[in-house]
Amino acid sequence: MTITAIVGAQWGDEGKGRIVDYLAQRADMVIRFQGGDNAGHTVVNDRGTFRLHIVPSGIFNPATRCIVGPGTVVNPDTLLAEMAELAAAGIDLGNLWLSERAHLILPYHRLLDGLEESARGGSQIGTTGRGIGPAYADKSARAGVRLGDLLRPEYLRERLAGTLAQKNLTLAHFGRQPLALDDLLAQAEAWRHAIGGRIIDTLPLVRDAVRGGQDVLLEGQLGVMRDLDWGTYPFVTSSNPIAGGVCAGAGLPPSAVGRVVGVAKAYCTAVGAGPFPSELHDEVGVRLRTVGQEYGATTGRPRRCGWYDAVAISHGAWLNGLTGLAITKLDVLDGLAELKICTGYRLDGQIIDRVPDTPDMARVEPVYETWPGWQTATRDARAWADLPEAARAYLSRIAELAGVPLQYVSVGPEREQLIVM
Ligand code: IMP
Repeated sequence: MTITAIVGAQWGDEGKGRIVDYLAQRADMVIRFQGGDNAGHTVVNDRGTFRLHIVPSGIFNPATRCIVGPGTVVNPDTLLAEMAELAAAGIDLGNLWLSERAHLILPYHRLLDGLEESARGGSQIGTTGRGIGPAYADKSARAGVRLGDLLRPEYLRERLAGTLAQKNLTLAHFGRQPLALDDLLAQAEAWRHAIGGRIIDTLPLVRDAVRGGQDVLLEGQLGVMRDLDWGTYPFVTSSNPIAGGVCAGAGLPPSAVGRVVGVAKAYCTAVGAGPFPSELHDEVGVRLRTVGQEYGATTGRPRRCGWYDAVAISHGAWLNGLTGLAITKLDVLDGLAELKICTGYRLDGQIIDRVPDTPDMARVEPVYETWPGWQTATRDARAWADLPEAARAYLSRIAELAGVPLQYVSVGPEREQLIVM
């Protein structure tokens, strides 16, 4: 049996979807354990190119049970749009299940995400505007509405009536019209018809899979640097993408998780605001964005690009207990004369090898070591030995600095463009 968590080791967008897609070819179950449709997991396989936002990346294997776990927040409208796209491409959705405990993203959450961002003036977080923060805030404030509530119309009316009164006061404060309870209930009724049959208590399924020795993948969204507790707060998401979030968010004990694979790009990207020490503002940054097609899969925003940051990865290696590293998009570095790896941060004249709290993180200067680049294309490499020597040296150094063995290297978006160590 293997219970494997796939987590982001940088700022998100590391390519977790492709690693999950690869491993899901043999997995019995894939569980999304946090986040919502702010995710943008790009998967390229023999069925086409897909951008998954909330549906687990195991959906392409019809034998894999895909669970949207209790730790997620779900907007049924965008879920239904995503399901329609997948169905149109001939993907079987019969094995897609939604936890009754997952929280609903309601229309006021999206409205408030935008309004609250505007009210932040110059100190915006750069959220995806999907209502993620407001939905998780309601969950913590015990004012949330859950997917399971859709199945109990009377209970739903009670829950929504209480919450909506408060939300309408806030909307009025922003000069917005109130939302009508009956409209929301009508929308909820439509959702119940569309997805009600998939909303279940997912715990027995997960428990049986773990006890039965099945292969289970836990699919994270975003990365350690956007973790609510361990990222660059407040420039973070509102849940825990680190492996610590797996157990609560999927419904299994910590002792069940056997492997934790951290996914990182061979360089670094981030969307949204906040400190990013190795960011490049020169032509190399532009080149990485152009060659790597670094635009947000959910919002289309250009991603900030920079050199590989080994300090951030060490932070993630410890917090996640990484047992393996997957390095993606190595091919994007092909042809660069030299490469840099950020091995430390200079703060007030001292070199540190940890991620300091955000105000200090915003002041650090990256300390780099320089590595020779390679002038050959890596996209056809299928084994370690196929890679140019300089690429092997660069990757070996990355693994050494992380203190984690390298398990996968991807050299292109296609399923077979993957080196398995
Ligand atoms: P939120 O999750 O929409 O509240 O956004 C919080 C922060 O996380 C912002 O910096 C977003 O740009 C970032 N973020 C959210 N989802 C993703 C993602 O899937 N990839 C990369 N960054 C993301």
